[in-house]
Amino acid sequence: MLIKSLHELTALKEKYKTKKKMRIDVCGGTGCNASGNQQVIKALKDEIVKLNLEKEIEVVVTGCFGFCEKGPILKILPDNTFYIEIDEKKARKIVQEHLAKGQVVEEYLYREPISQTIHSRQEEIPFYQKQKRIALRNCGSIDPENIYEYIADEGYQALGKVISELKQEESINIIKQSGLRGRGGAGPAGEFRLDGGGVRGGAGRDFVHAAARADHAGHGFAPGAGGTGAGPHAGAAVRSACRAR
Ligand code: FES
Repeated sequence: MLIKSLHELTALKEKYKTKKKMRIDVCGGTGCNASGNQQVIKALKDEIVKLNLEKEIEVVVTGCFGFCEKGPILKILPDNTFYIEIDEKKARKIVQEHLAKGQVVEEYLYREPISQTIHSRQEEIPFYQKQKRIALRNCGSIDPENIYEYIADEGYQALGKVISELKQEESINIIKQSGLRGRGGAGPAGEFRLDGGGVRGGAGRDFVHAAARADHAGHGFAPGAGGTGAGPHAGAAVRSACRAR
């Protein structure tokens, strides 16, 4: 696949956005794999076929949701219902009740151990409320092995903008404003490497690296990477700066 312009990239993004009414994101991380997500995925797909819902529901295997001890985990979209400790039988029931009839299966939701409060959404769970994910904030929202899912979720937009719309000085100014710093030992400021420091030579080339890695970092493709060897904040900063323009 050869993408020749930002316009083409944006057209691809629209093309691959999910068109189905509902989607089941199943955690495909190592922990959920070890606790049986393959059987869960198979049961979901079988039940969807059995109920003739293939045209309306998509099953997507994503990256780790972060709450591995409660796996296998799955999330129903668009309503964002978060189910934990799912097995084959529970998976079938979720398709029968939630997806076919619109009824949330409360017994498979997260329940706080002491207060017994039940939470249906990931963001309501205390484990997640104590965290602020930055570099991996989108991990668990797409299939990391499907590049079209990545493109549909804004992948490569910053890179596309840098290559096709920005002048070199504009790109360097974005890096300066982002506060980007390298973490490869000396930790020089990003602009030093782009603006004449000559550590790796070629400002344009380094900025392309920065934008590409910034794109990846937010989706968990390159954990910890966010620019010219910089920390995760840099990825978000570069993306925001590019989008703001
Ligand atoms: S492996 Fe599934 S939540 Fe981490």
